[in-house]
Amino acid sequence: MSAATRPPAARSAFMDLAPEVENFRDAVLAGLSRRPRAVPAKFFYDAEGSRLFDRITELPEYYPTRTEIGILDRYGPEMADMFGAGVQLVELGSGSSVKVRLLLDRLTAPAGYVGIDISRDHLREACERLAEDHPGLEVLALCADYMGEVAVPPPSSGLPRRRVAFFPGSTIGNLTPGEAEAFLARWRTWLADDDVPGGMLVGVDLKKDPDILHAAYNDAAGVTAAFNLNLLARINRELEGTFDLSAFRHRAFYNAEKGRIEMHLESARDQIAMVAGRRFAFTAGETIHTENSYKYDLPEFQALAVRAGFTPARVWTDEDRLFSVHWLEA
Ligand code: AVI
Repeated sequence: MSAATRPPAARSAFMDLAPEVENFRDAVLAGLSRRPRAVPAKFFYDAEGSRLFDRITELPEYYPTRTEIGILDRYGPEMADMFGAGVQLVELGSGSSVKVRLLLDRLTAPAGYVGIDISRDHLREACERLAEDHPGLEVLALCADYMGEVAVPPPSSGLPRRRVAFFPGSTIGNLTPGEAEAFLARWRTWLADDDVPGGMLVGVDLKKDPDILHAAYNDAAGVTAAFNLNLLARINRELEGTFDLSAFRHRAFYNAEKGRIEMHLESARDQIAMVAGRRFAFTAGETIHTENSYKYDLPEFQALAVRAGFTPARVWTDEDRLFSVHWLEA
């Protein structure tokens, strides 16, 4: 191949902002000591938990992933048209390469892609693959905690024509509404900087028939149960835990009053478990709260975005109104 016909080399740079990782041991000990007991959902995602989550996204009952992909596939060209040329696309959580490609492949002359994730190796791999498949695209893997303040560098060509922060997957639903508002408000500060127009494209799971929600978090194959129980397995592996996994049950139900799916691990009997040398006594029926997954209706999420300082400008949904993708102008 001559130099003239050779495609431009993949350009993927890596920048490490050395995010502070919350200590698993401290969080588990504190969470098991309080009442009601609760461990933050972010601790699901060790290597095994991430593998189980990938399997969840392919389950027939778990509609969010394929529905959001359907929306992005169908309306991606419209979104790209609306954004115009010269976009700097910033993805918060760089795991959903299928989804971001549905956008990226439709954009005209994007100024650059920045993937942000706290998990270094996973981020580097995802960004390298993306760069290989998009020769000529400037790709930056930014290791940082996107839940906190992140200084995103501009593309090497200078200020972009537009900034788009992409937050798919309804990960925002795993925050409380108050946390979600604060999170959006933090990103708006960066997006509204420098007179560059910008906004956020956010995937949000919708309120619906509780039976559909119940099935999505209680799949027949038991993958969500395994995902939930893996938290105890992780404690056993990493914190010298003695949890008997057969003596805890996966519980997931829709709390209509709070508008959220709650996941818990319920003790099947009175029992004692040791964690990092500490003793925890569980009574039969007692639970550890492991996750909330908030569901919104459209006006409810738009009102939250307004409180965070955004102007909700567009929203796309599937025909069955299971899932939504919101364009929020900063
Ligand atoms: C990552 N997050 C949006 C998923 C959810 O639906 O809340 C996590 C999950 N938990 C059980 N199944 C999937």
